[in-house]
Amino acid sequence: MHRGKGMKFVGDSRVPQKKGFIPPKDYSEYPHKTEAFLPNFLLKEWMVGAVFLVGFLVMTIAEEPPLEKEADPTASGYIPLPDWYFLFLYQLLKYPYASGDYKVIGTILIPGLAFGALLLAPWLDRGFDRRPLKRPVATLAMLLAIVGVYYLTWESGVTHNWKQAAQQGKIVEKVNIDKSSAGYKLFKENNCVSCHGGNMQGDGPGPSLVGKNLKPDHVADVAKNGVPPNMPAGVFKGTDKELKQLAEFVSKVSKK
Ligand code: HEC
Repeated sequence: MHRGKGMKFVGDSRVPQKKGFIPPKDYSEYPHKTEAFLPNFLLKEWMVGAVFLVGFLVMTIAEEPPLEKEADPTASGYIPLPDWYFLFLYQLLKYPYASGDYKVIGTILIPGLAFGALLLAPWLDRGFDRRPLKRPVATLAMLLAIVGVYYLTWESGVTHNWKQAAQQGKIVEKVNIDKSSAGYKLFKENNCVSCHGGNMQGDGPGPSLVGKNLKPDHVADVAKNGVPPNMPAGVFKGTDKELKQLAEFVSKVSKK
């Protein structure tokens, strides 16, 4: 015989009945409405979990992870991009009223208000009704948040320079550059690294110089006169002797 079967709880005179108090249901009156935690419930949960786990594994195999080359701390031109679930916050920081002098608004105030309200929702919105239309404030706030997050994520995707990102993140074979050589020091001192990267394989606006078989004369000419309109003239600021040294160094590294 089931526990409590045929028995009905009619209330306890010692417990004052308050308004809003919902008495717990006596589940023995509703066969099949509840189940044992072990093993029934846990087995179901575990099966759903297994389906999702296999699904994730299949997705990671089908879609290669978007890995980029090794991080280069000297590459000031590199534009980092957060993962998709942070894109809306990233996009928010691009607007003038949420960045620069107002970065407190974009980093603390707006996210703090939004996530704080979500955290405090059970205390702020105490209605019992579950129908969205009966809770206009909460429903409207949530809809606005969804629209806002969707819009910001979308904007961040369409305004990102994907072509440049693919170029600067491209995984390239590691080249051995003698970073203690005089030529490399000139390459660094004359700020070539800010566009061509510390490994001379391109970062930000400048292309990779590796594997291009550049002639010393050509490098010297470019270092002085630039490549209009993309590389400015007058980047190199040293003596003629240093220019020759730099040109020979770059030419040597650029050999296939
Ligand atoms: C402001 C960014 C910037 C700086 C600084 C810079 N470059 Fe460039 N460089 C570029 C860009 C962009 C190009 C590609 C130009 C093009 O092809 O339109 C380029 C092209 C070159 C090329 C030609 C590559 C080829 O395939 O012909 C050489 C060589 C070169 N840079 C060397 C240097 C050296 C040496 C320095 C330092 C003295 C330097 N660059 C500094 C942006 C820069």
